[in-house]
Order: sequence, then structure tokens, then C-alpha cells
Amino acid sequence: MKPSTISALLGSLFFATSAAASPSPVLAPRATSVLTPVTITGNAFYRGNERFYIRGVDYQPGGGTGVESDPIANATACKRDIPYFTKLGINTIRVYAVDNSKNHDECMAALAEAGIYLVLDTDTSKYSLNREDPKESYNSVYLQSVFATIDAFANYTNTLAFLSGNEVINNVTNTDCAPYVKAVTRDMKQYIGSRGYRSVPVGYSAADVAENQEIMANYMNCGTDDQRSDFYAINDYSWCDPSSFTTSGWDTLVANYTGYGIPLFMSEFGCITNTRTFEEVAALYNTSMTNVFSGGLVYEYSEEGNGYGLVTIDGDTVSTNADYNYLSSAYAQATNPTGNGGATSTSASTTCPTESADWDVANDNLPAIPAKAEEYMSTGAGTGPGLDGSGSQEAGTADNESTGTASAGSGTVTETASASSTKKSAGAKIPAVDTKAFMVVATIMLSMLSGMVLL
Ligand SMILES: *[C@@H]1O[C@H](CO)[C@@H](O)[C@H](O)[C@H]1NC(C)=O
Ligand SMILES: *[C@@H]1O[C@H](CO)[C@@H](O)[C@H](O)[C@H]1NC(C)=O
Ligand SMILES: *[C@@H]1O[C@H](CO)[C@@H](O)[C@H](O)[C@H]1NC(C)=O
Ligand SMILES: *[C@@H]1O[C@H](CO)[C@@H](O)[C@H](O)[C@H]1NC(C)=O
Ligand SMILES: *[C@@H]1O[C@H](CO)[C@@H](O)[C@H](O)[C@H]1NC(C)=O
Ligand SMILES: *[C@@H]1O[C@H](CO)[C@@H](O)[C@H](O)[C@H]1NC(C)=O
Repeated sequence: MKPSTISALLGSLFFATSAAASPSPVLAPRATSVLTPVTITGNAFYRGNERFYIRGVDYQPGGGTGVESDPIANATACKRDIPYFTKLGINTIRVYAVDNSKNHDECMAALAEAGIYLVLDTDTSKYSLNREDPKESYNSVYLQSVFATIDAFANYTNTLAFLSGNEVINNVTNTDCAPYVKAVTRDMKQYIGSRGYRSVPVGYSAADVAENQEIMANYMNCGTDDQRSDFYAINDYSWCDPSSFTTSGWDTLVANYTGYGIPLFMSEFGCITNTRTFEEVAALYNTSMTNVFSGGLVYEYSEEGNGYGLVTIDGDTVSTNADYNYLSSAYAQATNPTGNGGATSTSASTTCPTESADWDVANDNLPAIPAKAEEYMSTGAGTGPGLDGSGSQEAGTADNESTGTASAGSGTVTETASASSTKKSAGAKIPAVDTKAFMVVATIMLSMLSGMVLL
């Protein structure tokens, strides 16, 4: 069973939960932690003149509790975990959701001191695109939250990248979300530029849906430069130890993405079908992959009830699991290639994909930014809503928001009715955030449905 199928099922199980009420402290001016910022040239990341490979873990302790919380607003918790990051030999963590009304100075500075960068998802459960109704959910209330998160993190030199969405498209049935994902990416880039921030890279994290992951990659890298992503990231669980470059299909993956003109990395990897020994790490940092990939992040640091945890956290105590040690030695043994690892120095755009049975997007036009959201370009976004509030998914309508007349977009999205476009039922609002915390439930459901035992 492919993880994408599991994710698709998970989508229907995930409901927004209200975070525990907490006061929103007034934000103090942010200290700037010092770590050389990562930049992009061609299809690779660089730190100074040296190629930079992401070696990391996904980090969302508490992600399995059902109550969304910010793991890097609590310096005590963050400092508890940093020694374990150091022992793993990582240089990057990915965080799926933060509270943009909170201050992150202390944790970000401690991470910087440990040489660790942050890849940050700017969505939260309540403030995100709704894959069941992307047009309605692309509104100024959502973008205000996204922009406030940018304000909260753009000044840290160890903010490596922002992710404009995670697995919004998680099936063959919802590629009609693509123009909205791309519009959000465009808007984030414009906000960063308009506010005079360092050019923190912005890109999207794609689910492993065989039919559209690569089409989406091409779509995110086509069009004008202001519309193109700075990088693309994929979640991939196809290497299940014991395996190999060819058995896993990673050789085909590399072949398929060869020539892709912007950096590519794995925003999640680490199949748990069998005991994880992380054999794939040797391949990921080998020249057979580094011409196309810039490393990746293992899903995930803490055990959240789904079997993916490298450590188990109990209050202030962290205990490492067997795969933590395997990953630590795999990272230690996988030295970076010399030189630039086969990277290309020029950034090539892609031809926009055409509509097909697998791709429910009629043309290259993007929705215009809602007029209210465009005002934030000059005024700033102001205070973020944090994880609370009424959320954004139903805050605007197609009539008063996402067909706004602002000039940032090149047009409006044309609704299409291709054969593959199954219209969604008007059911639960499904946030496009990390859903793997519900893997256990989904596994049980899948087993019941298919009579198979998966894990
Ligand atoms: C995913 O797409 C398949 C059709 O290929 C469909 O049968 C299935 O119901 C879809 N799943 C979800 C969660 O929409
Ligand atoms: C911060 O994290 C520590 C360690 O897990 C915990 O004991 C403490 O209660 C947390 N503080 C807040 C305000 O959540
Ligand atoms: C970011 O840094 C600049 C320059 O130090 C400062 O003027 C600005 O207020 C900072 N912005 C935020 C949101 O902290
Ligand atoms: C590579 O591309 C082929 C042809 O489009 C596709 O069938 C296959 O699934 C892709 N494989 C991977 C691993 O991306
Ligand atoms: C690294 O790639 C080379 C060829 O590009 C191959 O000969 C070698 O076996 C690979 N090593 C690992 C550990 O994958
Ligand atoms: C758009 O419509 C929604 C729902 O009718 C409403 O709550 C919201 O205030 C409207 N937004 C604007 C900008 O008029």
C-alpha cells in the first residue's frame, strides 16, 4: 500500500481541533541569531560558496496529541532536544505548524548555536487551504496568517525555507488545488520582497501521488519568475530497508527529475515497513543522487503514536529508539560529495503541464491575490492569529475574495470539468497540514477495508 493512499484516507479522518487557550504575549523585537543564510543557485542550496545538503528530521513533538501546539515557542522543550539533534548530526529541522503570535527568539538562537536551520510550514490547521474547496479558502484571512508567520521568522538567519503547503494535493482527485497552492507561493514570495526581507526560499511539499507528483513539480516551476517556486520538496517512503537504489525505484526518481531546474529535496522520508536501518542515507548523499537532490528530512523526531518516532519523549526525558542510532551512524558515514556534487549553476524553468486525465488544471492562469491581502504588502500583516480563532477556511467567498481585482495574478482560474474531476462532497473541512499522526487509525481502517495487515 502506498503512503499516498494512506494519506488520502487520513485526510478524511483529520478534523481541525481547537488549541488550548493561551495568552498572546506582545512580541518583543526579535534578536537575529547568527548562522550564514542558505541561498540558492541553479538547482542547489549553498552556504557561502559551499554546497549545502539538508540533513535533518521532521520535528513536531505533540503532533500526535490532536491539539496543535508550537514546538519551538517553548525554549525548555527545544533545548531538551537540541543535544539529540547534535548527536544525530543533523543541520536542519522541519516544523509543520507554529504559533505566529508567539516569540521564537530563544529557541531559534539555540538552534543557530547548534548549527541547525529551520524549514517551516506556514500553514496551521485553522489557517490553510481547504483541499475540498480551494477557491473559497484562498482568502485574505488565510494570507494574513501566512504573512504574519513570515514576519515572525524571516529575520532569523537560520530560517532556511518556508513551505507554502504540505500535501494539499493528496490524490488524483484534487489537482484542482494546484493553482491556489501556486498562488499562495507567489504571494509569499511577493510579501518577502515587498517587506524587504532576505530572500528566504519558498516552495511546496508534495505527497507521493504517482500520477501527479512530477506534474506538480513542473507546474510549480513554470511561468514567470514571480510565479515559479524557489524549490520543490517531496515526501517519499518508497525506500523500505532492506533495499537498494534500484529496488526502491530511487534510480527512476532521479532519472525522472534529472534536469529539473530548481533545488529538490525530500521533506519526508523513512519507510517503517521493516526495521529502519537508513540504508537510503548513503544513496541520498552520493553523487548518483546529488546532481538532482539536496538531501532530506527523516519523518520524524518524536514518537507520536504512529511508529515513526526516532525518540520517545516523556516530559523532560528523551529516550532514543533503535532507529535513532542507525540514523546517527548513517548520517555520520554519508560524507558529502566533493565540489558541487553535480549541481547545475543555472535555474531552468519548466514548460507548464497541459490538462489531462491526471491534471485538472485548464490553463496557466493563477487567481489574483485578494485585494485585502495585497494591502499587507505595503502595511505589513500585523499580529498573527496564532493557533486559535475562527480560522480562515470559511472566512471568504469566491465572490468577495479570491476573484479580487489586484494585479499580482495573471488571471483567474477557470473551473474545469475533465473526466477525472470528481467533485468533492460538501463534507468536513480538511486542513492541509501534517496528517501522519493519524497513521495508526488509518492503518486499522485500511486493514479492515482491505483485509491486509500493513505494519
Ligand atoms: C482517491 O482517488 C480514487 C480514485 O482514483 C478514489 O477512489 C478515492 O476515493 C479517492 N480518495 C479520496 C480520499 O478522495
Ligand atoms: C515547555 O516544555 C517543558 C518540557 O516539555 C514542559 O515541562 C513545560 O510545561 C512547557 N511549558 C509550556 C509553557 O508549555
Ligand atoms: C527585522 O529586522 C529589521 C532590521 O534589523 C528590523 O527593522 C525589523 O523590525 C525586524 N522585523 C521583525 C518583524 O522583527
Ligand atoms: C517516473 O516517470 C514515469 C513516467 O512518467 C512514471 O511512470 C514513474 O512512476 C516515475 N517514477 C518515479 C519513481 O517517479
Ligand atoms: C554511489 O554512486 C556510485 C556511482 O554514481 C556507485 O558506484 C556507488 O555504488 C554508490 N554508492 C552508494 C553507497 O550508493
Ligand atoms: C466575504 O464573505 C464572508 C461570508 O459571507 C464574510 O464573512 C466576509 O466578511 C466577506 N469578506 C469581505 C472582504 O467582504
